[in-house]
Amino acid sequence: MNLTCMECNSTYDPKDTRFLCDCGGLLDVALDLQDAAVSRETLDARLAGAALPGGSGVWRYRELLPPIPDEHIVSKDEGNTNLYTDARLSAWTGCDGLHLKHEGENPTGSFKDRGMTVGMSHARWTGARTVACASTGNTSASVSAYAAAAGMHGLTFVPEGQLALGKLAQTMGYGARTVQVRGDFDDAMKLVRQVAERGDVALLNSLNPYRLEGQKSIVFEILQQLEWSVPDWIVVPGGNLGNTSSFGKALRELQQVGLIQKMPRLAVIQAAGANPFYQAFRDGFRSLTPVTADTVATAIRIGNPVNYPKAVRSLEWTDGVVEQVTDDEILEAKNRVDTVGIGCEPASAASVAGTRKLVSQGTIRPGDQVVAILTGHILKDPDSILDHKERFGITLETVEPNLDAVTRLLDG
Ligand code: F0G
Repeated sequence: MNLTCMECNSTYDPKDTRFLCDCGGLLDVALDLQDAAVSRETLDARLAGAALPGGSGVWRYRELLPPIPDEHIVSKDEGNTNLYTDARLSAWTGCDGLHLKHEGENPTGSFKDRGMTVGMSHARWTGARTVACASTGNTSASVSAYAAAAGMHGLTFVPEGQLALGKLAQTMGYGARTVQVRGDFDDAMKLVRQVAERGDVALLNSLNPYRLEGQKSIVFEILQQLEWSVPDWIVVPGGNLGNTSSFGKALRELQQVGLIQKMPRLAVIQAAGANPFYQAFRDGFRSLTPVTADTVATAIRIGNPVNYPKAVRSLEWTDGVVEQVTDDEILEAKNRVDTVGIGCEPASAASVAGTRKLVSQGTIRPGDQVVAILTGHILKDPDSILDHKERFGITLETVEPNLDAVTRLLDG
């Protein structure tokens, strides 16, 4: 390998940091391909199973999913998300064994796609033409994209003025009919249930049990990435409690088929302003009292979670705990996750803030293996960065287009 000028063929050392030849020509990286041992067979072997089911990080686990006939499957090769470690985040949370499972790396930027491929495929199998949801923005973006992919009609109900910008734009952009409800998510949820009861639309919220089946694959993929060594904890933000419900079922089923021998513990983290599950947990799960929700983490601004009974069951199966974190703690954790180059939306950062809190309380031990779920992408909620930039010393600088001005800026 060397650097070769495309004009005069002069060559330079590959570690040279120049980007132009002495003659002014542009440089190419010239590879030594004459010795490259590459064949179609090698490349194809690496792709083994790239077609369904292998290419999807959901359908790869089809033996543990509902047997929907192939011809009805609507997939965007969802899943296949990274499991990150970062020494700075381990130090900040006090948890050496911290992993971050980035579900924001799904096709529409959130974990919802994993549930959606199964929910949408099931809806298509049943002959539905229109699919509907209420949403704080991620479900609606996912419904909109998957409905478009399937050639179906998407119908989404969202709380007026409460969606993060990226999610509203996505939901509208993929083409779903987008209806703002003059109320909160819980009002929109109540409405869409009534609409679905009329019988002509399929409901694709996590009330739909097929959605929860797809979300089990988050746990399957984590375990496969950890080479089936079971972590001590899985930490997840809780809103409508779909993931909480799904994770418990996934773990039970992995145990039933013998893929794991012990259970990790689930830790569900709620925003303090949207904490009905936390309050119920503190009360020994005697009952759920809905709250009027308010938090900077708009994804989990939910006061009356529809999956409550299944979530309680998951916590019982996994000896789980519920914790709450303030908006300040959420924003600080988000800034930490963002500034190590991983990035996430505010609701996702609740799991990192919650991990830190549970370590400080001694519930999670510093040496424990922990997987915290990042549920959504940094681009989902750009305002959550721009509105809080002073607090985190984030600046945007402007300069006149001349070198003097730039020199003053950089050296000043
Ligand atoms: N994180 C993000 C980014 C979410 O969008 C949601 C839920 C949650 C966490 C909570 O997950 O409901 O399984 O407890 N968003 C839903 C929506 C409500 O409409 O997009 P959960």
